[in-house]
Amino acid sequence: MSEVLSLHKHRIMPIIAPSILAADFSNLIKDIEMVNQSEAEWFHLDVMDGVFVPNISYGMPVIKAIDDHTDKVMDVHLMIVQPERYIKDFKEVGADVLTVHYEACTHLHRTIQAIKDEGMKAGVALNPHTPVHLLEDIIHDLDLLLIMSVNPGFGGQKFIQNTYEKITQAKNLIERKNASTLIEIDGGVGLGNAAQLSQLGADVLVAGSSVFQSNDPMGTISELLRS
Ligand code: DX5
Ligand code: ZN
Repeated sequence: MSEVLSLHKHRIMPIIAPSILAADFSNLIKDIEMVNQSEAEWFHLDVMDGVFVPNISYGMPVIKAIDDHTDKVMDVHLMIVQPERYIKDFKEVGADVLTVHYEACTHLHRTIQAIKDEGMKAGVALNPHTPVHLLEDIIHDLDLLLIMSVNPGFGGQKFIQNTYEKITQAKNLIERKNASTLIEIDGGVGLGNAAQLSQLGADVLVAGSSVFQSNDPMGTISELLRS
């Protein structure tokens, strides 16, 4: 898994991370198998607590069930308050990459170190209103920078245009600090904007509705990869 992350900066195509939030929960195994057979390298798993965001999604048992049925990278996006309380639990259910929100962490540096101490890759997510420059003093510690391109909490929302500028800012910051942080874009990603996102420097594209609501999810993953 670490190879996937470290090698990626030298690859041409982005990593596609289908978001299970948009999957069919009454027949999850079907969607897990679809992703397994597809060219997607990661599963994106959205955990919501009804406090940090106005919605509740799923938690550890669902993540463990998916992990039991895949060898792909488990990319867990925590939209919860006090995420530091659950770092070990997410490691135990199979998280490979654990991302916390900047806005939810008073002691972000400590939380990032704790994630790494558990042997996971560490990510920080920024809400649409949170500027990239706030990561100036921590970017070199981050394996992943997740830029929210919608307000977190729900799938199927409209992509926020200001994200394009934030990708450029993130790319500049990463280069200036000589960091190897991957840039992940989450929310409203689809065939209409994937090419531009990759061109600007996005390394990982999260796609929920655009994949699972498509008539041909595997084909859409493949197109996102090559767009
Ligand atoms: C939103 C989540 C996203 C969501 C994306 O809070 O973080 O991962 O599943 O869904 P789409 O791709 O439908 O915008
Ligand atoms: Zn997400």
